[in-house]
Amino acid sequence: MAELFVPRALLVTGGAGFIGSNFIHHFLSAQPGCRVINLDLLTYAGNLENLKGVEENPRYRFVRGDIGDGELVAQLLLEEQIDGVVHFAAESHVDRSIDGPELFIRTNVLGTQILLEEARRHWNRRGGEPFRFLQISTDEVYGSLGATGYFTEGTPLAANSPYSASKAGADLLVRAYHETYGFPTLNTRCSNNYGPYHFPEKLIPLMIANIIAEKPLPVYGDGRNIRDWLHVRDHASAVEAVLVKGAAGGVYNIGGNNEWQNIDIIHLVCDLLDRRLGRAAGKSRELITYVKDRPGHDRRYAIDAGKIKTELGWEPAYTFEKGIEETIDWYLDNQEWVKEVTSGAYRDYYEQMYGRR
Ligand code: NAD
Ligand code: TYD
Repeated sequence: MAELFVPRALLVTGGAGFIGSNFIHHFLSAQPGCRVINLDLLTYAGNLENLKGVEENPRYRFVRGDIGDGELVAQLLLEEQIDGVVHFAAESHVDRSIDGPELFIRTNVLGTQILLEEARRHWNRRGGEPFRFLQISTDEVYGSLGATGYFTEGTPLAANSPYSASKAGADLLVRAYHETYGFPTLNTRCSNNYGPYHFPEKLIPLMIANIIAEKPLPVYGDGRNIRDWLHVRDHASAVEAVLVKGAAGGVYNIGGNNEWQNIDIIHLVCDLLDRRLGRAAGKSRELITYVKDRPGHDRRYAIDAGKIKTELGWEPAYTFEKGIEETIDWYLDNQEWVKEVTSGAYRDYYEQMYGRR
Protein backbone atom coordinates (compact mmCIF):
# COMPACT_ATOMS: atom_id res chain seq x y z
CA MET A 1 0.00 0.00 0.00
CA ALA A 2 1.20 3.54 -0.78
CA GLU A 3 1.99 6.02 2.02
CA LEU A 4 -1.20 7.44 3.57
CA PHE A 5 -2.35 10.80 2.24
CA VAL A 6 -4.36 12.78 4.78
CA PRO A 7 -5.67 15.99 3.16
CA ARG A 8 -6.14 19.22 5.14
CA ALA A 9 -8.17 21.23 2.60
CA LEU A 10 -10.21 19.35 0.04
CA LEU A 11 -11.85 20.92 -3.01
CA VAL A 12 -14.95 18.88 -3.83
CA THR A 13 -16.59 19.70 -7.16
CA GLY A 14 -20.27 18.87 -7.73
CA GLY A 15 -20.82 18.49 -4.00
CA ALA A 16 -24.47 19.58 -4.22
CA GLY A 17 -25.37 16.62 -6.44
CA PHE A 18 -26.38 13.11 -5.42
CA ILE A 19 -23.04 11.42 -4.80
CA GLY A 20 -21.03 14.56 -4.00
CA SER A 21 -23.40 15.57 -1.19
CA ASN A 22 -23.39 12.08 0.31
CA PHE A 23 -19.60 12.12 0.11
CA ILE A 24 -19.37 15.48 1.93
CA HIS A 25 -21.65 14.24 4.74
CA HIS A 26 -19.43 11.17 5.09
CA PHE A 27 -16.05 12.84 4.70
CA LEU A 28 -16.55 15.70 7.17
CA SER A 29 -17.22 13.22 9.97
CA ALA A 30 -14.68 10.62 8.82
CA GLN A 31 -11.81 13.16 8.49
CA PRO A 32 -12.12 15.67 11.36
CA GLY A 33 -8.81 17.34 10.46
CA CYS A 34 -9.87 18.38 6.96
CA ARG A 35 -11.80 21.36 5.59
CA VAL A 36 -14.10 20.89 2.59
CA ILE A 37 -14.69 23.53 -0.07
CA ASN A 38 -17.63 22.63 -2.28
CA LEU A 39 -17.56 24.16 -5.77
CA ASP A 40 -20.88 23.58 -7.54
CA LEU A 41 -22.69 25.42 -10.29
CA LEU A 42 -26.13 24.36 -8.97
CA THR A 43 -27.49 23.11 -12.27
CA TYR A 44 -30.90 21.37 -12.22
CA ALA A 45 -29.13 18.44 -10.49
CA GLY A 46 -27.49 20.43 -7.70
CA ASN A 47 -29.46 21.23 -4.59
CA LEU A 48 -28.25 22.81 -1.35
CA GLU A 49 -31.03 20.97 0.49
CA ASN A 50 -28.83 17.90 0.08
CA LEU A 51 -26.33 19.52 2.45
CA LYS A 52 -28.68 20.31 5.31
CA GLY A 53 -26.82 20.08 8.59
CA VAL A 54 -23.44 20.54 6.89
CA GLU A 55 -23.75 24.27 6.25
CA GLU A 56 -23.22 25.16 9.92
CA ASN A 57 -19.99 23.17 10.06
CA PRO A 58 -17.04 25.61 10.37
CA ARG A 59 -14.91 23.23 8.28
CA TYR A 60 -17.27 23.60 5.31
CA ARG A 61 -17.58 26.33 2.67
CA PHE A 62 -19.86 26.46 -0.36
CA VAL A 63 -18.92 28.36 -3.50
CA ARG A 64 -21.30 28.60 -6.42
CA GLY A 65 -19.31 28.43 -9.64
CA ASP A 66 -18.26 26.56 -12.74
CA ILE A 67 -15.34 24.09 -12.90
CA GLY A 68 -14.75 25.60 -16.36
CA ASP A 69 -14.01 29.01 -14.82
CA GLY A 70 -10.22 28.72 -14.58
CA GLU A 71 -9.78 32.05 -12.78
CA LEU A 72 -12.21 31.10 -10.02
CA VAL A 73 -10.68 27.64 -9.66
CA ALA A 74 -7.14 29.07 -9.45
CA GLN A 75 -8.22 31.60 -6.83
CA LEU A 76 -9.92 28.94 -4.68
CA LEU A 77 -6.97 26.56 -4.88
CA LEU A 78 -4.65 29.31 -3.71
CA GLU A 79 -6.73 31.04 -1.03
CA GLU A 80 -7.88 27.78 0.56
CA GLN A 81 -4.44 26.14 0.26
CA ILE A 82 -6.07 23.11 -1.31
CA ASP A 83 -4.08 19.88 -1.16
CA GLY A 84 -6.67 17.53 -2.65
CA VAL A 85 -9.40 17.66 -5.31
CA VAL A 86 -12.26 15.18 -5.55
CA HIS A 87 -13.99 15.83 -8.85
CA PHE A 88 -17.66 14.78 -8.97
CA ALA A 89 -19.05 17.68 -11.03
CA ALA A 90 -20.53 16.43 -14.28
CA GLU A 91 -23.59 16.15 -16.42
CA SER A 92 -24.62 12.66 -15.37
CA HIS A 93 -27.76 11.45 -17.13
CA VAL A 94 -27.44 9.22 -20.22
CA ASP A 95 -30.84 10.17 -21.66
CA ARG A 96 -30.02 13.88 -21.51
CA SER A 97 -26.68 13.19 -23.24
CA ILE A 98 -28.55 11.53 -26.11
CA ASP A 99 -30.80 14.59 -26.47
CA GLY A 100 -27.93 17.07 -26.29
CA PRO A 101 -24.31 15.91 -26.15
CA GLU A 102 -22.67 19.38 -26.30
CA LEU A 103 -23.13 20.28 -22.66
CA PHE A 104 -21.66 16.90 -21.68
CA ILE A 105 -18.51 17.61 -23.65
CA ARG A 106 -18.26 21.14 -22.29
CA THR A 107 -18.67 20.15 -18.63
CA ASN A 108 -17.25 16.64 -18.47
CA VAL A 109 -14.34 16.95 -20.91
CA LEU A 110 -13.43 20.64 -21.20
CA GLY A 111 -14.43 21.43 -17.61
CA THR A 112 -12.27 18.56 -16.34
CA GLN A 113 -9.33 19.72 -18.44
CA ILE A 114 -9.56 23.27 -17.06
CA LEU A 115 -9.79 21.94 -13.50
CA LEU A 116 -6.85 19.58 -14.09
CA GLU A 117 -4.72 22.33 -15.57
CA GLU A 118 -5.35 24.78 -12.72
CA ALA A 119 -4.76 22.02 -10.17
CA ARG A 120 -1.49 21.03 -11.88
CA ARG A 121 -0.23 24.64 -11.85
CA HIS A 122 -1.18 24.96 -8.19
CA TRP A 123 0.58 21.66 -7.37
CA ASN A 124 3.69 22.93 -9.21
CA ARG A 125 3.70 26.14 -7.20
CA ARG A 126 3.49 24.12 -3.98
CA GLY A 127 6.80 22.50 -4.91
CA GLY A 128 6.43 18.82 -4.10
CA GLU A 129 3.98 19.09 -1.18
CA PRO A 130 1.70 16.02 -1.07
CA PHE A 131 -1.29 16.44 -3.40
CA ARG A 132 -4.02 14.30 -4.98
CA PHE A 133 -6.51 14.84 -7.81
CA LEU A 134 -9.24 12.20 -7.75
CA GLN A 135 -11.41 11.84 -10.85
CA ILE A 136 -14.80 10.26 -10.11
CA SER A 137 -15.76 8.12 -13.07
CA THR A 138 -18.10 5.32 -13.98
CA ASP A 139 -18.05 1.70 -15.14
CA GLU A 140 -19.93 2.94 -18.21
CA VAL A 141 -16.59 3.97 -19.79
CA TYR A 142 -15.94 0.25 -20.38
CA GLY A 143 -19.00 -0.17 -22.61
CA SER A 144 -21.36 -3.12 -22.42
CA LEU A 145 -20.91 -6.74 -21.30
CA GLY A 146 -22.58 -9.89 -22.61
CA ALA A 147 -24.13 -12.44 -20.26
CA THR A 148 -20.83 -13.26 -18.53
CA GLY A 149 -17.61 -11.56 -17.44
CA TYR A 150 -16.70 -8.45 -15.43
CA PHE A 151 -15.05 -5.09 -16.01
CA THR A 152 -11.55 -4.93 -14.55
CA GLU A 153 -9.28 -1.89 -14.45
CA GLY A 154 -7.56 -3.35 -17.54
CA THR A 155 -10.72 -3.57 -19.65
CA PRO A 156 -10.30 -1.27 -22.67
CA LEU A 157 -12.46 1.86 -22.71
CA ALA A 158 -15.36 1.39 -25.14
CA ALA A 159 -17.95 4.01 -24.20
CA ASN A 160 -21.24 3.84 -26.11
CA SER A 161 -23.29 6.89 -25.06
CA PRO A 162 -22.33 10.56 -25.33
CA TYR A 163 -22.34 10.60 -21.51
CA SER A 164 -19.94 7.68 -21.13
CA ALA A 165 -17.79 8.96 -24.01
CA SER A 166 -17.42 12.30 -22.21
CA LYS A 167 -16.43 10.49 -18.99
CA ALA A 168 -13.94 8.32 -20.90
CA GLY A 169 -12.47 11.48 -22.46
CA ALA A 170 -12.01 12.97 -19.00
CA ASP A 171 -10.44 9.73 -17.69
CA LEU A 172 -7.92 9.78 -20.54
CA LEU A 173 -7.01 13.39 -19.77
CA VAL A 174 -6.46 12.41 -16.14
CA ARG A 175 -4.23 9.57 -17.29
CA ALA A 176 -2.35 11.93 -19.62
CA TYR A 177 -1.73 14.45 -16.83
CA HIS A 178 -0.18 11.69 -14.74
CA GLU A 179 1.90 10.22 -17.56
CA THR A 180 2.99 13.56 -19.04
CA TYR A 181 3.47 15.81 -16.02
CA GLY A 182 3.74 13.29 -13.18
CA PHE A 183 0.65 14.98 -11.69
CA PRO A 184 -0.58 12.75 -8.78
CA THR A 185 -3.97 11.65 -10.05
CA LEU A 186 -6.36 8.92 -8.96
CA ASN A 187 -9.30 7.57 -10.94
CA THR A 188 -12.28 5.63 -9.60
CA ARG A 189 -14.87 3.86 -11.77
CA CYS A 190 -18.02 2.96 -9.90
CA SER A 191 -21.15 1.04 -10.78
CA ASN A 192 -24.71 2.46 -10.49
CA ASN A 193 -25.40 4.14 -7.16
CA TYR A 194 -28.68 4.33 -5.25
CA GLY A 195 -29.67 5.99 -1.97
CA PRO A 196 -30.87 9.32 -0.53
CA TYR A 197 -30.75 12.57 -2.57
CA HIS A 198 -30.79 10.63 -5.86
CA PHE A 199 -32.39 12.82 -8.50
CA PRO A 200 -35.70 11.26 -9.62
CA GLU A 201 -34.77 11.06 -13.29
CA LYS A 202 -32.62 7.96 -12.66
CA LEU A 203 -34.20 4.50 -12.51
CA ILE A 204 -34.64 3.76 -8.79
CA PRO A 205 -35.75 7.18 -7.50
CA LEU A 206 -37.96 7.74 -10.57
CA MET A 207 -39.74 4.45 -9.92
CA ILE A 208 -40.17 5.25 -6.21
CA ALA A 209 -41.52 8.74 -6.92
CA ASN A 210 -43.89 7.53 -9.65
CA ILE A 211 -45.21 4.63 -7.57
CA ILE A 212 -45.97 6.99 -4.69
CA ALA A 213 -47.72 9.38 -7.13
CA GLU A 214 -49.42 6.45 -8.97
CA LYS A 215 -47.88 7.51 -12.29
CA PRO A 216 -46.72 5.16 -15.10
CA LEU A 217 -43.37 3.41 -14.64
CA PRO A 218 -41.49 3.64 -17.98
CA VAL A 219 -39.45 0.49 -18.67
CA TYR A 220 -37.03 0.80 -21.60
CA GLY A 221 -36.97 -2.04 -24.15
CA ASP A 222 -37.51 -5.52 -22.68
CA GLY A 223 -36.51 -4.44 -19.15
CA ARG A 224 -33.81 -7.10 -19.03
CA ASN A 225 -30.75 -4.82 -19.07
CA ILE A 226 -28.53 -5.44 -16.07
CA ARG A 227 -26.94 -2.91 -13.71
CA ASP A 228 -24.70 -3.54 -10.67
CA TRP A 229 -26.09 -1.45 -7.76
CA LEU A 230 -24.07 0.04 -4.89
CA HIS A 231 -25.32 2.15 -1.98
CA VAL A 232 -24.09 5.73 -2.32
CA ARG A 233 -22.60 5.71 1.21
CA ASP A 234 -20.49 2.70 0.25
CA HIS A 235 -19.31 4.70 -2.75
CA ALA A 236 -18.41 7.57 -0.40
CA SER A 237 -16.32 5.32 1.86
CA ALA A 238 -14.61 3.81 -1.20
CA VAL A 239 -13.68 7.27 -2.51
CA GLU A 240 -12.23 8.16 0.88
CA ALA A 241 -10.20 4.91 0.89
CA VAL A 242 -8.80 5.62 -2.58
CA LEU A 243 -7.98 9.25 -1.72
CA VAL A 244 -6.14 8.33 1.48
CA LYS A 245 -4.55 5.01 0.54
CA GLY A 246 -4.48 4.87 -3.27
CA ALA A 247 -1.26 4.88 -5.27
CA ALA A 248 -0.84 8.00 -7.44
CA GLY A 249 -1.67 7.22 -11.06
CA GLY A 250 -3.94 4.37 -9.95
CA VAL A 251 -7.35 3.37 -11.33
CA TYR A 252 -9.78 1.63 -8.96
CA ASN A 253 -13.07 -0.04 -9.84
CA ILE A 254 -15.80 0.24 -7.20
CA GLY A 255 -18.80 -2.09 -7.10
CA GLY A 256 -21.10 -4.06 -4.87
CA ASN A 257 -21.31 -7.39 -6.68
CA ASN A 258 -25.05 -6.82 -6.87
CA GLU A 259 -26.45 -7.37 -10.37
CA TRP A 260 -30.13 -6.86 -11.11
CA GLN A 261 -32.24 -6.86 -14.24
CA ASN A 262 -34.16 -3.58 -14.40
CA ILE A 263 -37.55 -5.29 -14.38
CA ASP A 264 -36.68 -7.30 -11.25
CA ILE A 265 -35.65 -4.18 -9.38
CA ILE A 266 -38.86 -2.44 -10.50
CA HIS A 267 -40.94 -5.38 -9.25
CA LEU A 268 -39.07 -5.33 -5.93
CA VAL A 269 -39.62 -1.59 -5.43
CA CYS A 270 -43.32 -1.95 -6.39
CA ASP A 271 -43.85 -4.76 -3.88
CA LEU A 272 -41.98 -3.05 -1.04
CA LEU A 273 -43.97 0.16 -1.58
CA ASP A 274 -47.30 -1.72 -1.77
CA ARG A 275 -46.53 -3.01 1.71
CA ARG A 276 -45.33 0.33 3.06
CA LEU A 277 -48.33 2.21 1.61
CA GLY A 278 -50.89 -0.42 2.57
CA ARG A 279 -51.85 -1.05 -1.05
CA ALA A 280 -53.13 -4.42 -2.29
CA ALA A 281 -50.32 -6.81 -3.29
CA GLY A 282 -49.47 -6.36 -6.98
CA LYS A 283 -51.21 -2.97 -7.26
CA SER A 284 -48.15 -0.88 -8.15
CA ARG A 285 -46.95 -3.39 -10.76
CA GLU A 286 -50.02 -2.34 -12.78
CA LEU A 287 -48.24 1.00 -13.38
CA ILE A 288 -45.44 -0.68 -15.38
CA THR A 289 -45.40 0.64 -18.97
CA TYR A 290 -42.97 -0.71 -21.56
CA VAL A 291 -41.66 2.16 -23.71
CA LYS A 292 -39.31 2.53 -26.68
CA ASP A 293 -35.77 1.44 -25.86
CA ARG A 294 -32.97 3.93 -25.20
CA PRO A 295 -30.76 4.18 -28.34
CA GLY A 296 -27.42 2.39 -27.84
CA HIS A 297 -28.71 0.98 -24.54
CA ASP A 298 -25.84 -0.92 -22.83
CA ARG A 299 -26.99 -4.43 -21.99
CA ARG A 300 -25.03 -5.30 -18.88
CA TYR A 301 -22.58 -3.69 -16.46
CA ALA A 302 -20.76 -5.76 -13.81
CA ILE A 303 -17.72 -4.68 -11.84
CA ASP A 304 -14.81 -6.75 -10.62
CA ALA A 305 -13.95 -4.83 -7.43
CA GLY A 306 -11.12 -7.21 -6.45
CA LYS A 307 -8.34 -4.62 -6.69
CA ILE A 308 -9.79 -2.12 -4.20
CA LYS A 309 -10.53 -4.96 -1.78
CA THR A 310 -7.09 -6.55 -2.00
CA GLU A 311 -4.99 -3.39 -2.17
CA LEU A 312 -6.97 -0.98 0.01
CA GLY A 313 -9.10 -3.30 2.17
CA TRP A 314 -12.40 -1.65 1.10
CA GLU A 315 -15.67 -3.57 0.99
CA PRO A 316 -19.30 -2.39 0.93
CA ALA A 317 -21.06 -2.23 4.30
CA TYR A 318 -24.66 -2.23 3.03
CA THR A 319 -26.62 -5.29 2.02
CA PHE A 320 -28.98 -4.50 -0.84
CA GLU A 321 -32.02 -5.55 1.23
CA LYS A 322 -31.19 -3.01 3.94
CA GLY A 323 -30.11 -0.32 1.49
CA ILE A 324 -33.20 -0.43 -0.69
CA GLU A 325 -35.62 -0.45 2.28
CA GLU A 326 -33.83 2.53 3.85
CA THR A 327 -33.89 4.32 0.50
CA ILE A 328 -37.63 3.78 0.08
CA ASP A 329 -38.20 5.07 3.63
CA TRP A 330 -36.06 8.12 2.88
CA TYR A 331 -38.16 8.98 -0.17
CA LEU A 332 -41.38 8.47 1.79
CA ASP A 333 -40.08 10.80 4.51
CA ASN A 334 -38.78 13.40 2.04
CA GLN A 335 -41.58 13.92 -0.44
CA GLU A 336 -41.16 17.69 -0.15
CA TRP A 337 -37.59 17.30 -1.44
CA VAL A 338 -38.85 15.32 -4.44
CA LYS A 339 -41.49 17.96 -5.12
CA GLU A 340 -38.95 20.74 -4.92
CA VAL A 341 -36.26 19.20 -7.13
CA THR A 342 -38.75 18.06 -9.77
CA SER A 343 -40.39 21.45 -10.18
CA GLY A 344 -39.39 24.03 -12.80
CA ALA A 345 -36.71 23.15 -15.32
CA TYR A 346 -36.74 19.45 -14.59
CA ARG A 347 -40.50 19.16 -14.95
CA ASP A 348 -40.39 20.88 -18.34
CA TYR A 349 -37.76 18.42 -19.56
CA TYR A 350 -39.62 15.38 -18.23
CA GLU A 351 -42.92 16.46 -19.78
CA GLN A 352 -41.24 17.07 -23.11
CA MET A 353 -39.74 13.55 -22.99
CA TYR A 354 -42.69 11.57 -21.68
CA GLY A 355 -45.72 13.83 -22.10
CA ARG A 356 -47.79 15.46 -19.38
CA ARG A 357 -48.71 12.99 -16.68
P1 NAD B 1 -25.56 14.64 -10.24
O1 NAD B 1 -26.05 14.95 -11.60
O2 NAD B 1 -26.53 14.28 -9.16
O3 NAD B 1 -24.69 15.87 -9.68
C1 NAD B 1 -23.79 16.58 -10.46
C2 NAD B 1 -23.43 17.86 -9.72
O4 NAD B 1 -22.44 18.58 -10.50
C3 NAD B 1 -24.61 18.81 -9.51
O5 NAD B 1 -24.60 19.28 -8.17
C4 NAD B 1 -24.34 19.95 -10.49
O6 NAD B 1 -24.85 21.20 -10.05
C5 NAD B 1 -22.81 19.94 -10.54
N1 NAD B 1 -22.28 20.53 -11.78
C6 NAD B 1 -22.65 20.25 -13.06
N2 NAD B 1 -21.92 20.98 -13.92
C7 NAD B 1 -21.07 21.73 -13.18
C8 NAD B 1 -20.05 22.67 -13.50
N3 NAD B 1 -19.78 23.02 -14.76
N4 NAD B 1 -19.34 23.24 -12.48
C9 NAD B 1 -19.61 22.92 -11.19
N5 NAD B 1 -20.58 22.03 -10.83
C10 NAD B 1 -21.29 21.45 -11.81
O7 NAD B 1 -24.48 13.48 -10.45
P2 NAD B 1 -24.12 12.24 -9.50
O8 NAD B 1 -25.02 11.11 -9.82
O9 NAD B 1 -23.95 12.71 -8.12
O10 NAD B 1 -22.69 11.86 -10.10
C11 NAD B 1 -21.50 12.47 -9.60
C12 NAD B 1 -20.31 11.92 -10.34
O11 NAD B 1 -20.25 10.51 -10.20
C13 NAD B 1 -20.36 12.19 -11.84
O12 NAD B 1 -19.05 12.53 -12.27
C14 NAD B 1 -20.80 10.86 -12.44
O13 NAD B 1 -20.27 10.69 -13.73
C15 NAD B 1 -20.19 9.88 -11.46
N6 NAD B 1 -20.89 8.58 -11.30
C16 NAD B 1 -22.23 8.52 -11.08
C17 NAD B 1 -22.84 7.29 -10.86
C18 NAD B 1 -24.32 7.19 -10.54
O14 NAD B 1 -24.84 6.08 -10.40
N7 NAD B 1 -25.04 8.28 -10.36
C19 NAD B 1 -22.08 6.12 -10.91
C20 NAD B 1 -20.71 6.21 -11.14
C21 NAD B 1 -20.12 7.46 -11.33
P1 TYD C 1 -30.20 5.08 -15.26
O1 TYD C 1 -30.68 5.23 -13.85
O2 TYD C 1 -30.50 6.19 -16.23
O3 TYD C 1 -28.65 4.78 -15.16
P2 TYD C 1 -27.60 4.33 -16.34
O4 TYD C 1 -28.26 4.42 -17.65
O5 TYD C 1 -26.51 5.35 -16.21
O6 TYD C 1 -27.18 2.95 -15.98
O7 TYD C 1 -30.82 3.74 -15.85
C1 TYD C 1 -30.60 2.49 -15.24
C2 TYD C 1 -31.25 1.43 -16.12
O8 TYD C 1 -32.67 1.61 -16.10
C3 TYD C 1 -30.85 1.52 -17.58
O9 TYD C 1 -30.75 0.20 -18.11
C4 TYD C 1 -31.99 2.27 -18.23
C5 TYD C 1 -33.20 1.84 -17.42
N1 TYD C 1 -34.28 2.82 -17.26
C6 TYD C 1 -35.61 2.47 -17.55
O10 TYD C 1 -35.90 1.32 -17.95
N2 TYD C 1 -36.58 3.41 -17.36
C7 TYD C 1 -36.31 4.67 -16.93
O11 TYD C 1 -37.25 5.50 -16.79
C8 TYD C 1 -34.94 5.01 -16.64
C9 TYD C 1 -34.60 6.40 -16.16
C10 TYD C 1 -33.97 4.06 -16.81
